[in-house]
Order: sequence, then C-alpha cells, then structure tokens
Amino acid sequence: MPADPDPAATAVPSAGTEEHPPTSYVLRVNGTDRPVSDAWIGESLLYVLRERLGLAGAKDGCSQGECGACNVQVDGRLVASCLVPAATAAGSEVRTVEGLATDGELSDVQRALAACGAVQCGFCIPGMAMTVHDLLEGNHAPTELETRQALCGNLCRCSGYRGVLDAVREVAAERAASATAASEAADAGDEARIPHQAAPGAGSVQIHPHDGGMA
Ligand code: FES
Ligand code: FES
Repeated sequence: MPADPDPAATAVPSAGTEEHPPTSYVLRVNGTDRPVSDAWIGESLLYVLRERLGLAGAKDGCSQGECGACNVQVDGRLVASCLVPAATAAGSEVRTVEGLATDGELSDVQRALAACGAVQCGFCIPGMAMTVHDLLEGNHAPTELETRQALCGNLCRCSGYRGVLDAVREVAAERAASATAASEAADAGDEARIPHQAAPGAGSVQIHPHDGGMA
C-alpha cells in the first residue's frame, strides 16, 4: 500500500502568499541600519518609515506624489517617499525630517520655518523642511524664483508660502554670514601660525662636535 503523501509537499500555497511573498531587507535611515522583516515587496518607503519603523515625520497627504508632505532624501536626492518602493531603497542612505535635527537641536531650516510663521497646521512642514534642506544643500543662495520653483511640489493649504520664502532667505543669509566669519577666522589663524623666521644670517645650525663642529 503506498505511503500517505507528505502533506507539506502537496500543500498548495495560497494565491496571496504566492503573489506577494514576504521579503526582508535593511534600510539605512538617518545613519542607522533599520531591519525590515516579512514585508510586502510593494510597500512604499513612506509606509515602511511610518508604520514599520515608527518614523512618523513624513506625512501621507495624497499617496500619489502630488503634495510633497512625504518628502525624504534617498542618497541625497529629494523623493516623494509615497512613490518609492521601500525595498528599492535598501543599500541607500535615507534621510527623513527626523534626521535634520542634531542631538535634539532643530536644524537652522526647522528653526527658521517656525520663526517665520510658516508653520500653521503643520501638516506640510516636514516635507517642506526636507525640500528647503535639499534646496539649500545644492544652492547656497537661491533667488526667490528658484525657491518658488523648488517649493512648487509642496502643497500648503494654510500659510500662503510667505513664511517659507522668508525662512529660506534667512537661512541662506545666516549660513553666508557664518561661512564668511569662519573663513576670516581661518585666515587670521593662518597668519598667527606663520612660524617666526630668523633674519638672514642670524640663524645658525648647531653642529655637534662629533660631527666635526666646535664644542
Ligand atoms: S503623500 Fe507623497 S506626495 Fe503626497
Ligand atoms: S501649514 Fe497647514 S498645510 Fe501647510
């Protein structure tokens, strides 16, 4: 009599399992490796950041690349994280709005957005902060037109954008001022470090007697 067939060998995987096999990968987010396990391959980066990794800074405003509330950087490029399959970002550097602050201190961009009255309901602001951060990384002195063009993918229903434009101008000016101050300080330091040079003929090499010199 033939042996009973191995139930495991005859089991038919459910259609769902076959079509959507779970996957695991590691995302590098804000300088930290974050493992993602048993995830559906089609999950967006926005979903994974928010729902699996607990990084709720990026917001889900439209899920279709229209509002900019979900903006993050992947390998230094600004992307709408709702449109990026998270698994494709494995091996890349992901930077979210949580990564703008240093040691709990808001970045200059975040501070300026708050100080200039750009933050009303606040929903768009994480994406706006990432866009402004990205803009100023690539263009240290954007014109108002360039700023408006950079912001055209970020929808804000509250603030009228004036505060954001002001914030960009302020941060650009502050950074330019501190770069000038730093370079002046470096120049002053270089002058101070020029070693004293003896006048011609005033210096001498002390030759040891064993080398033929005089004691
Ligand atoms: S949620 Fe991604 S662009 Fe709106
Ligand atoms: S501050 Fe409310 S949507 Fe921009």
